[in-house]
Amino acid sequence: MEDLILDLPTFVRSCFNDPGDFLDWLKTFNYVGQSCKDIKERYGVQTDGLYYLKSKTGIIYETYCDMTTDGGGWTLVASVHENNMLGRCTVGDRWTSQQGGSSVFPDGDSNWVNKVTFGNAEGATGDDYKNPGYYDIQAQDLSVWHVPNLVSMENWKKSSIARYHTNSRFFPRYGGNLHGLFQHFPLKYKGGVCKTDNGPSIPIVFDEGDAKHLREMYGPRTYAGTEPGYVTFRAFNTEQAALAICSGVKVIGCHTEHVCFGGTGYFPEGSPKQCGDFAGWDWSGYGTHKEWSATKTITESAVLLFYR
Ligand code: G3P
Ligand code: CA
Ligand code: CA
Repeated sequence: MEDLILDLPTFVRSCFNDPGDFLDWLKTFNYVGQSCKDIKERYGVQTDGLYYLKSKTGIIYETYCDMTTDGGGWTLVASVHENNMLGRCTVGDRWTSQQGGSSVFPDGDSNWVNKVTFGNAEGATGDDYKNPGYYDIQAQDLSVWHVPNLVSMENWKKSSIARYHTNSRFFPRYGGNLHGLFQHFPLKYKGGVCKTDNGPSIPIVFDEGDAKHLREMYGPRTYAGTEPGYVTFRAFNTEQAALAICSGVKVIGCHTEHVCFGGTGYFPEGSPKQCGDFAGWDWSGYGTHKEWSATKTITESAVLLFYR
């Protein structure tokens, strides 16, 4: 037993093939920060990848940091992944409802406004993900990546079909993060009407792709109801279902279920045909990119959400 204790450093070192990997592993324990921004500022690290963070209440968790885009310091806090368009507000629809798309549970699972966490960073393109940073980090801006499903972490950045961020430091006006923003703008079925009661639309700048191409990944019939170059929060549709986030667009129309994701757990139009994390993205056929349907590419990509 004593031999093992004396040899522990040798044993740990032997778990790594590459001395560089061993050093990287050691370093992760030396970094202390509540966000990737803290770690970037304190230690000057410039490598994208997994880091340990510690929440205000002492939860230690591991997530992905984008340490390079626009100066870096972006913390991955969540991903929204559609696992099955045919499962309407069923298993895997954590950002809407896993309870069947019924008027019995109109407000859905409430994960946009609670402190429940799920998934893991490396699995962010294969399932939904939410870590304590989602509610714990006081942020200024949001960054969004659309990454094809099941792409491995080391390839996320280069495989993204679109990457953008806000740069207006809008979060402090709305509670400092998405958790706070959705307290200001509750995702409540019948909590408002389309156009007039929507939450803010914030201008974005692109790090990969461009505003026009992202907007055109949604169904052609949605174009009249959107403007490219924004991210929009809490957009009601005609039937007063509330959608959480409309990525890449300002919403000026009412058929928001075809361009926005997440939200309430009951969508009256064609119920339950529009329910799910990507709601009505397949209204005119799955991945057809005809009429109201989005392309297969964006339908089969996870949406990764970062704070800085
Ligand atoms: O969201 C589209 C739906 O409300 C109306 O579709 O094709 O009947 O105009 P359509
Ligand atoms: Ca999901
Ligand atoms: Ca509609």
